[in-house]
Amino acid sequence: MNPAHSNDLHTDPNQFPGVDVYAVAGNPITHSKSPAIHKRFSEQSNQKMHYGRLQPALDEFATTAQSFFAAGGQGMNVTVPFKLDAQAFADELTPRAKLAGAVNTLRIENGKIFGDNTDGAGLVRDLLAQGIQTQGARILLLGAGGAARGVLGPLLEQAPKELIIANRSNAKADELVQLFAKLATVHQAVLQSLTLSDLEDISKTASHFDLIINATAAGLSDVSPISDIAASNIFIPQSFAYDMVYGKVTAFMQQALHRGSRVSDGLGMLVEQAADAFLIWRGEHLNEVIDSRAVLAELRAS
Ligand code: ATR
Repeated sequence: MNPAHSNDLHTDPNQFPGVDVYAVAGNPITHSKSPAIHKRFSEQSNQKMHYGRLQPALDEFATTAQSFFAAGGQGMNVTVPFKLDAQAFADELTPRAKLAGAVNTLRIENGKIFGDNTDGAGLVRDLLAQGIQTQGARILLLGAGGAARGVLGPLLEQAPKELIIANRSNAKADELVQLFAKLATVHQAVLQSLTLSDLEDISKTASHFDLIINATAAGLSDVSPISDIAASNIFIPQSFAYDMVYGKVTAFMQQALHRGSRVSDGLGMLVEQAADAFLIWRGEHLNEVIDSRAVLAELRAS
């Protein structure tokens, strides 16, 4: 294998003697931006490492991860659809990975695999870098699947005034409210659930929101999870609409733009979660030398 051939999907640590090897595992994975992001972080901080891609078959995450670490792999990022497999694979989980119910970062230490989740911290850092006030804010989180659960803990730790989870179906949003009720109380945040259709009723939403985050899978197709009536209730020009999907102006973002709100896609979250993974692997002290916002700007320009 040619180490310079970054499209190789079979990242084998044996092929990179003397170099620490990392990889992102997902299916599909060919278009992942993670190798480019980590390459820039390693250049900024003079780290001798290789970061490749792995595309396990859908039922082969554990075998692939096992061989990767057995061959000397130092760490792995995990993306769709393997975050639950990665959680099961880890020997030990950080508290935030437990709360998120999923793992996006694995590392090995003395033969033991540790699982962490940097998605929520990545989202919060991107919001703060964009000047969004989360403390004391009224936040609406759309969706109650894995992506929503992954960011709920770090959002509540920002001590918003209110956090409403709105989902198509009631049950999953209610489950999340129960799961995170204690954390909400600790941070004096009101945590409640609604259905997406409730958002059409202004008596249920009370008023507009400061921050609306789309964590539904609807962003991947060209539909918005909310109707135009709901959009008129929740967005005002001072609102900020964030879609976790990146690389396009989604239908959800267009609804917000139409009402004069500011919008963002999720590219900054991708870069920030990668920065946290990089620091977990290579040492927190490198925080001083890596520049995630510069990497984000480069990605946007490319
Ligand atoms: P992920 O890990 O991406 O969150 P998931 O756990 O399957 O994936 O969750 C998908 C989320 O997107 C759910 O909240 C789902 O709503 P339901 O729980 O009602 O299924 C939501 N979702 C998917 N497609 C949607 C659509 N077209 N409109 C609104 N919500 C949608």
